Amino acid sequence: MLRKPNYKRLVILSISALAVSLMARVFANGLEDLPAQILNQSFTQIQFNLNNDEVDEFILGKSFFNIPWVQAPSATTARDGLGPLFSANTCVNCHAKNGSGKVFAANNIVDRSHVIRLSISSNGTDEHQRMTAKIGFIPEPSYGAQISINGVLGVPFEAKPVIHYSTKDIHYPDGATITLQQPTIKLKNLGYGDLHPNTIVSARIAPALVGLGLLEQITDAQILSNEDVNDANHDGISGKANRVWSSQTKQVEIGRYTWKASAPTVKHQSANAAINDMGLTNPIHEHQSCTPIQVACINASKDGEKHELTAQRLSAISYYLTHLKLPQSIVTEHQGQRLFSEIGCSQCHVPSYLLPKTTIYPYSDFLLHDMGKDLADSRSEFDALGSEWRTPPLWKLGRVALILKDNKNFLHDGRARNLEQAILWHGGEAEKSKTLFMNLPISSRGKILQFLNEI
Ligand code: HEC
Ligand code: HEC
Repeated sequence: MLRKPNYKRLVILSISALAVSLMARVFANGLEDLPAQILNQSFTQIQFNLNNDEVDEFILGKSFFNIPWVQAPSATTARDGLGPLFSANTCVNCHAKNGSGKVFAANNIVDRSHVIRLSISSNGTDEHQRMTAKIGFIPEPSYGAQISINGVLGVPFEAKPVIHYSTKDIHYPDGATITLQQPTIKLKNLGYGDLHPNTIVSARIAPALVGLGLLEQITDAQILSNEDVNDANHDGISGKANRVWSSQTKQVEIGRYTWKASAPTVKHQSANAAINDMGLTNPIHEHQSCTPIQVACINASKDGEKHELTAQRLSAISYYLTHLKLPQSIVTEHQGQRLFSEIGCSQCHVPSYLLPKTTIYPYSDFLLHDMGKDLADSRSEFDALGSEWRTPPLWKLGRVALILKDNKNFLHDGRARNLEQAILWHGGEAEKSKTLFMNLPISSRGKILQFLNEI
């Protein structure tokens, strides 16, 4: 039988041929020389080794990641059900080009990819203990778990965040000075009355969605082997895994995604995003998150389906995110690489993992660390305390920065505007390593930064 040519595959093959021919140039001249088009598509390419059905699933997932959802009821029932409260109407609004989010859109207006989480401390009652076990924290009673900056027609939005920065100068022993910006967040135009007096407000920037399928192949045992909860080896660093409730498998699992490692899988986090960021019910979160006082939200019309984001579409989205191709690294700065490990960065930013078919280099232990009071947000999520953060993978940060050009925002709330500032914010368990960094001559610091741009 004559086979129809597979056009999707032909397109993918020709794009990959182009990528291979460009690779030679990259090795000669560095990432900066990549043509804008190739650079922009760095994080949206498909893996090579998929069969036709898998390519179809990837394309389906990509479309549901990219399409804007609309308010129900509508003529386009395939993608209605947005809100009633929401922050963005498509995943790609916050994860542009699958790169990281930014703090500000135009005119100092806080961008939607910089979300504001809310919680209050537990009062120890059974109800609060149940919530802590199941969702990891206690939502603010009137506004819930996250500020929605939008509402559908007839449903008032919750608030608009405003950020002020105070500056502080950091002096290197060699005399160089760097200015850091410490954010303070305020919520304006509160739509549902005052916040609970003990509300904890925490900002999170959308991280780049890179290599997620490879990270999912790391076993729990590999992550747990780096744990040292009571610092038994007395190196001042005590990594701890986050143990989180999975509403999907109905059991406790090891968290590995998000800034506090509170999501166990890409699918689970995609479902969390669907409900919290877009107001889409789904098989993992069956109910809308309107609080009891949000009457318009409770009464808003539904799309009539059991799940606004169906099981099939949720699976397709997570399939898409876990089958993206990881851009290649071009490490030339081997001295920077050596210094990175000599001053203890690699104690948390663990370089590599052996997977069944390959070795990957994400530079993370996926564990929680106390990072000191300046980075603390006072918010717990499951076993992550108010000063604890998950070591973020460092791979491809340089490429993310190149793609996003002027909105480079690092650390959980995007306060650092370059990699050097991100390092200088390190405290707590990372204080010693940061001090060693600061004591290096400027040329060696530059080598570490160059290395970080290459991995
Ligand atoms: C309103 C902005 C916004 C929207 C819309 C959004 N995200 Fe996110 N996303 C974020 C933020 C912020 C984080 C970090 C959350 C945290 O650390 O608590 C994140 C984290 C993630 C992560 C974890 C990445 C990692 O490496 O830890 C995944 C996966 C993800 N989002 C997928 C999605 C999917 C799928 C959608 C659409 C259904 C989506 N997101 C929609 C803002 C958004
Ligand atoms: C004790 C563990 C630990 C050590 C040691 C450590 N880090 Fe980190 N690193 C973290 C954590 C946790 C974060 C995230 C903190 C946050 O977002 O508030 C982070 C964030 C970063 C970031 C920003 C990543 C992003 O996506 O925004 C960079 C860059 C970085 N570290 C580089 C380094 C370098 C270089 C060293 C050595 C001087 C180092 N780190 C040492 C734990 C560590």
